[in-house]
Amino acid sequence: MTKIGIDKIGLALPNYVLDLKDLAAARGIDPNKYTIGLMQEAMAITPVTQDIVTLGAQAAAQILTEEDKATIDMVIVGTETGIDQSKATAVYIHGLLGIQPFARAIELKEACYSAAAGLEFARNHIANRPEAKVLVIASDIAKYGLNSGGEPTQGAGAVAMLVSANPRILELNWDNVYQTRDVMDFWRPNYSPYPKVDGRFSTEQYTDCLQTTFEHYRLQSGKELDDFAAVCLHIPFAKQGLKGLRALQPSPKHEERFFEAIRYNQQVGNIYTGSLFLSLLSLLEQSKALKAGDDILLYSYGSGAVCELFSARLVSGYRDQLMTDRFEQMSKRQRLSMEQYEELFFETIPIDEMGNSPELPEDNSPFVLTKIENHQRIYHKH
Ligand code: COA
Repeated sequence: MTKIGIDKIGLALPNYVLDLKDLAAARGIDPNKYTIGLMQEAMAITPVTQDIVTLGAQAAAQILTEEDKATIDMVIVGTETGIDQSKATAVYIHGLLGIQPFARAIELKEACYSAAAGLEFARNHIANRPEAKVLVIASDIAKYGLNSGGEPTQGAGAVAMLVSANPRILELNWDNVYQTRDVMDFWRPNYSPYPKVDGRFSTEQYTDCLQTTFEHYRLQSGKELDDFAAVCLHIPFAKQGLKGLRALQPSPKHEERFFEAIRYNQQVGNIYTGSLFLSLLSLLEQSKALKAGDDILLYSYGSGAVCELFSARLVSGYRDQLMTDRFEQMSKRQRLSMEQYEELFFETIPIDEMGNSPELPEDNSPFVLTKIENHQRIYHKH
């Protein structure tokens, strides 16, 4: 059978960051609640000129060659921060990147889960067309609102994965199992800029879905936790992942890998669909213990709720496809004051009756939203 999986991974983060100690001080909360209780350090903050299109395009542009753009025949964007009820984010990104026209471009939605579905769709597509490549992007801005319960678990960013035959990072194993249950733990009605969250309930659902799906996975696959060198989980905040992992009765090696797998998430916050893949990237780039041939178990969870367990095998030479200076890159982000955070992250774009906005502020990021004209979002590539 053709080996199919992740050939390259790109990450885009906005240029701004809020230290959670500053948020704690402003909200009159013990900073240990955030750093020990939630196990989070900082959250990535977007200005009004950045959205899921600009972040998704930036993550993908980092990894794509001209040959890739001529070969990709499907672009899938998983997101729960849609900018349009009709037109898919993937169409904007396809255009901004200059991907060949005879491609399909679609957006998938199911809270934090959908990019994992996108990955399996990509694999199945390539199983029928081994010469094809699929671009899967997870792009989100997690905004819970000022003074909200979820405020310390916000974040923003995008992960792009190029899926192909004979991948150079991870081969996807054919062992996916899923679960769907209709629960109201987190949702966002069309009229609301922020999600409605039953926070405690969502944490219980995350863990219960993991436990029950893992039992199903064991029966289906015949595999046990010990068959895996590491477990990568959706990380809405790092403590949630740890609680989930511990519910599976992991070995010390799994806990060691877990702490390598949350390092990027702790500096970025929740990026919804991308959080699992940000954690995977952290594990692959930060762990010295992993080696080619190791299997990694992945858990995707999207409130509402749909979850999935699947596994992937590390390919020989995978480190050559990764970066070694990710923390150095992150350290270049501008640390915001509380006043700047409250203004930047919650700014809305004024639109007149003709559907026009003023020119938006300067932003030297690779892809930028410059204005809205006649109700159309106008992007610029630097
Ligand atoms: N020092 C150390 N730890 C502290 C602390 C302190 N001073 N104060 C509180 N804590 C700990 C709590 O004991 C708790 O840890 P535990 O769960 O291991 O017991 C943790 O900090 C969080 O405290 P809690 O009182 O539960 O926080 P909260 O009521 O503000 O809500 C969430 C936390 C996660 C529910 C909230 O941030 C939220 O709604 N987030 C968005 C939804 C989400 O991400 N869901 C995840 C599943 S998808």
